[in-house]
Amino acid sequence: SHCFALIPAAGNGSRFGAALPKQYLTVAGRPLIWYAVRTLAMHPRIRRVYVVLSVQDRLFDTWDWQTEFPGLAVLRCGGATRAMSVLNGLRAMAGEVAAEDWVLVHDAARPCLSRHHLDSLIAGVEHDSVGGILAIPVADTLKRSDAQGRIAATAPREGLWQAQTPQMFRHALLLRALETAVSREPTDEAGAVEALGLKPKLVEGDASNLKVTWPRDLRLAELILSDRGT
Ligand code: CTP
Ligand code: MG
Repeated sequence: SHCFALIPAAGNGSRFGAALPKQYLTVAGRPLIWYAVRTLAMHPRIRRVYVVLSVQDRLFDTWDWQTEFPGLAVLRCGGATRAMSVLNGLRAMAGEVAAEDWVLVHDAARPCLSRHHLDSLIAGVEHDSVGGILAIPVADTLKRSDAQGRIAATAPREGLWQAQTPQMFRHALLLRALETAVSREPTDEAGAVEALGLKPKLVEGDASNLKVTWPRDLRLAELILSDRGT
């Protein structure tokens, strides 16, 4: 079976709070989303990259993506939630992607995804019956707060992981999982698959594959990208 990538990019970046959605902020002369598209499109195992934009998006077409990524498929079917955007994207891909093909769902807002992260995920998951995700073991001590902002308990971090993307599942399974779970607004694909009673695999990644959520994250992402020379 083949691997495909699906990049949900229909969010508006409300926590980031910029004048435009964070995936369109300029990083070293390119829109932030360029970096994830590039890494996925250049990977030899990935047949095609699909990007899900919001229906009213006017910014993606302001850079010349057709020249740089001629095989890129742009789907203008974003939904009100991330899960809805991914579900709409999976439905739109269905003609070209077989039920058993793998789909790697990756946030547009994770520009530091590397070739090495993808190699680990694909090697760790491609012979798995359920699928899996990149994640990192929680390193900090976790505190549960009470309503007054005081520590009510220390939560044992044993066995806790921070989920990242890409999240890699077979097209038919992911479609079924999201159709079932979308109304509960799962924040990642694995959550929807878990709701079917399945246990996705954890593949250890690293902290460099950060998500740009707040302005401070962008400065860190820029440092990581410039360290790598991209
Ligand atoms: N996303 C999407 N459709 C939505 C919401 C989010 O495709 N309705 C995408 C975002 O564009 C992003 C990824 O899902 O690439 C991860 O979401 P998040 O980091 O939460 O981005 P935003 O929803 O844009 O940010 P915020 O939650 O702060 O508004
Ligand atoms: Mg969001």
